[in-house]
Amino acid sequence: MFKRDPNAKHPKFFVMNRRQFLVKAVPTAASALLLAACSSPASPTARPTANVTAMPTLSASELPAALAHSEPFSNVAADEIGDKLNTFEQITNYNNYYEFSTDKEAVAQLAQKFTTSPWQVEVNGLVNKPRTFDMQEIYKLFQQQEYVYRLRCVEAWSMVIPWVGFHLGDLLKMVEPKPEAKYVKFVTVMRRGEMPNQSFPILQWPYVEGLRLDEAMNNLTILATGMYGKPLTNQQGAPIRLVVPWKYGFKSIKAIVQIELTDQPVDNTWRNAAAGEYGFYANVNPEVDHPRWSQATERRIGEFGRRRSLMFNGYEAQVASLYEGLDLRANY
Ligand code: MTE
Repeated sequence: MFKRDPNAKHPKFFVMNRRQFLVKAVPTAASALLLAACSSPASPTARPTANVTAMPTLSASELPAALAHSEPFSNVAADEIGDKLNTFEQITNYNNYYEFSTDKEAVAQLAQKFTTSPWQVEVNGLVNKPRTFDMQEIYKLFQQQEYVYRLRCVEAWSMVIPWVGFHLGDLLKMVEPKPEAKYVKFVTVMRRGEMPNQSFPILQWPYVEGLRLDEAMNNLTILATGMYGKPLTNQQGAPIRLVVPWKYGFKSIKAIVQIELTDQPVDNTWRNAAAGEYGFYANVNPEVDHPRWSQATERRIGEFGRRRSLMFNGYEAQVASLYEGLDLRANY
């Protein structure tokens, strides 16, 4: 079970007044489709047809400190296609985080003592304004919102998660990518003293992931700092992780300390471990099977039976245009 660290410092945006939440109606599948057909994913004002709601920023002194320790909550009960949220307990007790363990149910306990403060994220490479962001700066500079997304693991299980975070694109714009920048590389912290498996060659450490720059700038791509209105738990990749909801979960790298803009394709960790099984793109695609298992269906954590997997995890309207002309079978 998840235990809260009573000494942990909560960033101010997590201290909120429940009455001030903007509770947005969950669109029906039909209205979501209509929205998707009308909105351009490239437009900076376009909102993805996922449930995205504002998280008001209030200073800690405005509300009783006790609220910071209130129960986990979300602005909505379901995603934009009506799938209900997984519970806080489900989301935080079934985790892939190989630095701690290959046993999903052991990660929560093993990550308890991981130090997440102070924390800095260095953004460098092919940018005009390289910059190192302290986490406190990140909370202040980027408006934190709730993004309710489906997470689909390549192992064919899935969850619906109410993340709190902000557009990666907003951070990238701040450092001004140079015209030669084509890819974004993300690197997890290297800390053998706290991450036991980094002492063993289970994967190549540190964990590395990458996106094409246009994928990174897509409105769906976020850096998550919280979940269910609370700071991210350690097992989820606190204090900051990537979330790319139309791709298999392994792209959503945890505990990020470096973001590098580059003109070179990124040799991501899982592809590096088994290139025949895990690619660079890793777009959810029910028509292209993993060599050892089908991707046509998935098991939603907490449900019995299996459900059909959706192309691009149900975000086709927002992202299919990124891959026009690309052979998705060859570029898995
Ligand atoms: N990031 C790091 N640093 N190490 C990992 O082992 N696992 C990935 C991804 N990010 C992983 C990681 C995989 S395989 C998945 S499915 C998701 O995290 C799981 O995220 P969750 O534990 O929050 O569900």
